[in-house]
Amino acid sequence: MESVKHFVCGLLLFWFLCVSGVKQKGSPFCGFPAIYNFGDSNSDTGGISAAFEPISGPYGQSFFHKPSGRDSDGRLIIDFIAEKLKLPYLSAYLNSLGTNYRHGANFATGGSTIRRQNETIFEYGISPFSLDMQIVQFDQFKARSIELYKQAKNPSERSKLPVPEEFSKALYTFDIGQNDLSVGFRKMSFDQLRAAMPDIINQLATAVRHLYEQGGRAFWIHNTGPIGCLPVNLFYKHNLPAGYLDQYGCVKDQNEMAIEFNRQLKNRVIKLRAELPQASITYVDVYAAKYGLISKAKNEGFADPLKICCGYHVDDTHIWCGKKAKVNGKDVYGGSCEGPLKYVMWDGVHYAEAANKWVADRTLNGSLSDPPIPITQACYRH
Ligand SMILES: *[C@@H]1O[C@H](CO)[C@@H](O)[C@H](O)[C@H]1NC(C)=O
Ligand SMILES: *[C@@H]1O[C@H](CO)[C@@H](O)[C@H](O)[C@H]1NC(C)=O
Repeated sequence: MESVKHFVCGLLLFWFLCVSGVKQKGSPFCGFPAIYNFGDSNSDTGGISAAFEPISGPYGQSFFHKPSGRDSDGRLIIDFIAEKLKLPYLSAYLNSLGTNYRHGANFATGGSTIRRQNETIFEYGISPFSLDMQIVQFDQFKARSIELYKQAKNPSERSKLPVPEEFSKALYTFDIGQNDLSVGFRKMSFDQLRAAMPDIINQLATAVRHLYEQGGRAFWIHNTGPIGCLPVNLFYKHNLPAGYLDQYGCVKDQNEMAIEFNRQLKNRVIKLRAELPQASITYVDVYAAKYGLISKAKNEGFADPLKICCGYHVDDTHIWCGKKAKVNGKDVYGGSCEGPLKYVMWDGVHYAEAANKWVADRTLNGSLSDPPIPITQACYRH
């Protein structure tokens, strides 16, 4: 009996030391009641799929076991964020059925850019919901949900609406910029894209400032990933000049543009902290996590990191994941691989769930963010 007591006391003491250790670092958990997310397909949980054509199987097969409006076989980083904060997965603002906005909403749509683009989704898949439109949608969502909340006659009418006071306690998350780079690669020279970069970054900063003026205080901003490692950038490419690819097979100068974007974004975040005195803004180096995974995929138990799990790719024929096409007169389906949990890349553009989890495991605990605090404590200003 006595020894059991000592053992328990030992555990309690250890627990106390742990807790006070956390306190020394500054803070208990923030207890975010909601998440409002802005972005592209890296964090779209059903927006573009609801607004345009539904994303079909085999998307969703590994986790949801059916299409879930996400561009992956399972969860995205934003889903792991929701899990970490003990909140439900985010409903897409554009989804009119089966949604619940009690703990936030997701304004991200696949194909979104920071800057408004001059093309339709039917050309290159660029979403009409650029970041400025996502912000307009947020404003409308906030105003209308507050009005409906006040008009509601009983708790059940309010149950799927955000609590008005919780907008200022929510975590505001961003993962956007990748498509501004891809449009840039398609339409501009690298020099032109480099020249456009400050304006792109500035528009992201404008969005953050707007949310701050609306009462938002905690911001969690992902930088952009190593776009040159996305397999789509190597489809149909032949006779590449020496030095075009890096040691892992990624397009070097595309990654250099992503690194430049991230450098400017980080500097802008530092300036924003000075401009928005009550904001806590965390800059998250998702690039480092994704590139880290690609560079050591084998050691981490993954297959060839640039090989896609879903889609048919032989020589110069590419059939997108979940699509059918004729190859030499025969119907061919862009199906998925065996063992998707070993894959880094799901289709040519999007990461597989296992990779998203790996990246989330290395970013949500703060080890790759500035300041280096876990997402659960991202409400504190440093
Ligand atoms: C958009 O398209 C119009 C008409 O084709 C063109 O004049 C304009 O320069 C374009 N704007 C951008 C930002 O590309
Ligand atoms: C975060 O998690 C990763 C992966 O488990 C680990 O290597 C790293 O040390 C952790 N960092 C912190 C600050 O806890």
